[in-house]
Amino acid sequence: MTRRTLIAGNWKMNGSVAALGFFDAVAPVAKEADADILICPPATLLAQAASACTGSEMRVGGQDCHAAVSGAHTGDVSAAMLREAGASHVILGHSERRADHGESDALVRAKAEAALQAGLVPVICVGESREEREAGRAIEVVASQLAASLPENPDRMTLVIAYEPVWAIGTGLTASVEDVAAMHEAIRERLPEPLTTCILYGGSVKPGNAKDLLSLDDVDGALVGGASLKSTDFSAIIEAAGRKSELVR
Ligand code: 13P
Repeated sequence: MTRRTLIAGNWKMNGSVAALGFFDAVAPVAKEADADILICPPATLLAQAASACTGSEMRVGGQDCHAAVSGAHTGDVSAAMLREAGASHVILGHSERRADHGESDALVRAKAEAALQAGLVPVICVGESREEREAGRAIEVVASQLAASLPENPDRMTLVIAYEPVWAIGTGLTASVEDVAAMHEAIRERLPEPLTTCILYGGSVKPGNAKDLLSLDDVDGALVGGASLKSTDFSAIIEAAGRKSELVR
C-alpha cells in the first residue's frame, strides 16, 4: 500500500460561519489535487464545515477530543461527537494543547485510542522546542514523545504523525529541508507501520516553501496553520502537492 499525500489545515481558534465560503473557494483545487485534503475548524463549525464539504474531495477533522466516551467533562467533546459532526480525523497532542493544557504523552495516547475506537484517524503531533534543538536533542525528544503517545492497539493503526517543531509554529521560521528529512526518517524508523503511516510536516508552511518540503521522500504532507485560513494560500499549498492530471498513467 502506498501513502497518499495529505494536506491538512488547522484553523486553531479562528474562523466563523462567515468564513465557510473557504470550502467553495478551495473545492476546485482539491478536486484536481493529487492529495487528500483535510480542514480542522473549531468544534463549533465542524458540522457546518462538513456540510460545506459534501460532494467535494475535502474532509473535516477536530482539533482535540477527550479520552472518555462521555461523562462529566465540562467543555470537552468526545471522539464520537466529532465523528457524529462529520469529522474523519482529529488532531491530538498539538504543542499548543501540550503547553496551554499541560497535556502529557500518556494523555495523548489515551485520546488516540479513544479516537481509533470512534473510527477517527488520529493526527498525533510531536516536535521539539528551540532549546531542545539547540542542545542537539531534537530526535531524542521526538522519539520519546512518539514512544509514549502512540496508541497501543497495533491491529488498528490507521494514524497520521505530524512533526511540528515548536519553534517553527506561527513564527515564519521553518526547519531546513535537511533537518526535516533527517527527522522524518528518524520518525519513520520508529513507527510500528512505517510503510503506510503518513508523516506530515508542520510549522510555517507557506505557498513559497511547500514544494521543497513536500518533495522530501519521508514527508507525506503538511499540517498548515496560518496559511490554511486564506483560501488562496491554502490552494497554492495544495497545488504544490501536484495535480492528478500530472500523474503518469
Ligand atoms: P503555522 O502554519 O501557523 O506555523 O502553524 C502550524 C501548526 O501549528 C499547524 O498545526
